[in-house]
Amino acid sequence: MNRLKRTDRPYDVVLFGATGFVGTLTAEYLAAHAPDGLRWAIAGRSEARLRELRERLPGGESVAVLRADAADPASLSELARRTRVLATTVGPYVTYGEELVAACADNGTDYLDLTGEPEFVDLVYVRHDARARETGARLVHACGFDSVPHDLGAYFTVRQLPEGVPLSVDGFVRVDAAFSGGTFASALNQFARPLRMRAAARERARHEPRLMGRRASAPAGAPRFAGEVGAWALPLPTIDPQIVVRSARALERYGPDFRYRHYAAVERLPVAVGGVAAVGALAAAAQVPPARRWLSGRLQPGEGPSAERRARSWFSVRFVGEGGGRRVLTEVSGGDPGYGETAKMFAESALCLALDDLPPTAGQVTTAVAMGDALLARLNAAGITFRVAAHR
Ligand SMILES: NC(=O)c1ccc[n+]([C@@H]2O[C@H](COP(=O)([O-])OP(=O)(O)OC[C@H]3O[C@@H](n4cnc5c(N)ncnc54)[C@H](OP(=O)(O)O)[C@@H]3O)[C@@H](O)[C@H]2O)c1
Repeated sequence: MNRLKRTDRPYDVVLFGATGFVGTLTAEYLAAHAPDGLRWAIAGRSEARLRELRERLPGGESVAVLRADAADPASLSELARRTRVLATTVGPYVTYGEELVAACADNGTDYLDLTGEPEFVDLVYVRHDARARETGARLVHACGFDSVPHDLGAYFTVRQLPEGVPLSVDGFVRVDAAFSGGTFASALNQFARPLRMRAAARERARHEPRLMGRRASAPAGAPRFAGEVGAWALPLPTIDPQIVVRSARALERYGPDFRYRHYAAVERLPVAVGGVAAVGALAAAAQVPPARRWLSGRLQPGEGPSAERRARSWFSVRFVGEGGGRRVLTEVSGGDPGYGETAKMFAESALCLALDDLPPTAGQVTTAVAMGDALLARLNAAGITFRVAAHR
């Protein structure tokens, strides 16, 4: 199906899961920033709650309300048929997400989500990438703090370095923020499934074509004091390095041999040690069903940090890039990473897919590959800063 022929669909963008914590923030962002004439809708399983949300949105009378349930595949196909771009916050994605991806891949509908779950991303690649390529659908995961600043930050850093030479980039993440019930549920779910996550990664590796004549890797790195950013650097095993490497595999600009390492940057050693211990304890507890149930009761879906806490939150990701005799230090920074800025990145990604002139891509693609410069420009204009801090 040709993308240009899709203007007969009633909507440009549908936001599924609009009544959740990030969904509501994303709907508010779209209501405030979508250009006039954008045909968009909020979707979810409770029509009454969607209508309540619409009443609170400035200009909400022009926003449509669509009912769909993750447990009802026919309602998901109907959603996918009615829009050009479908943005979903309904997670954990490995539990609720696959039918919607299948519907988008079948109907040539561009799809984006907020997943940070490697198992889900790998399953989608194995099961739906080929169909999406046939229909022209772009399947773009991790369009929030996971992984936009890291993927586009590495992309931005690479572009400051010479072409055609081996490049290495280290990313150092600093955040001050709290998280929501939905994020907590997704993290617990992920910690509880390490074997399935590894099995999905192996399955993907069997399906993915080999990279010919070039290399791209993300070795874990080791804890160290990183003088270049003046902090302790702890390897951060999130989905971000996997996404960065997929961008490097797809784009020649990353050079013949690209290496990315991803770290949390912590100023004080006791904080670093405490952080590692806390994550380890959470991961261990998630393996035990009663402990997991107790933990998941601590923070309910739909709950999240207050507006005051979010206003005090911030993030900064510093990148040190090297290659061809050059070294560059860059930084991506913004406000509340998990929610305010995630809603902004998510909404701007949806608008970018719906409205911007982008390189022709299809199938499972990263934010850098699908939207690169266009999304960078949108985010810079929206207050998420990408800048060169030092060059040598
Ligand atoms: N990438 C990032 O950086 C980032 C940042 C933040 C969050 N996230 C992820 O985004 C997701 C959402 O987080 P959140 O805090 O917004 O969670 P949340 O508040 O619990 O929202 C979840 C949404 O899913 C909907 N939902 C649940 N089951 C459904 C079903 N069967 N059919 C239709 N809709 C259903 C909920 O609808 P109801 O309102 O009807 O319950 C709600 O709208 C999580 O997976 C989280 O990990 C990612």
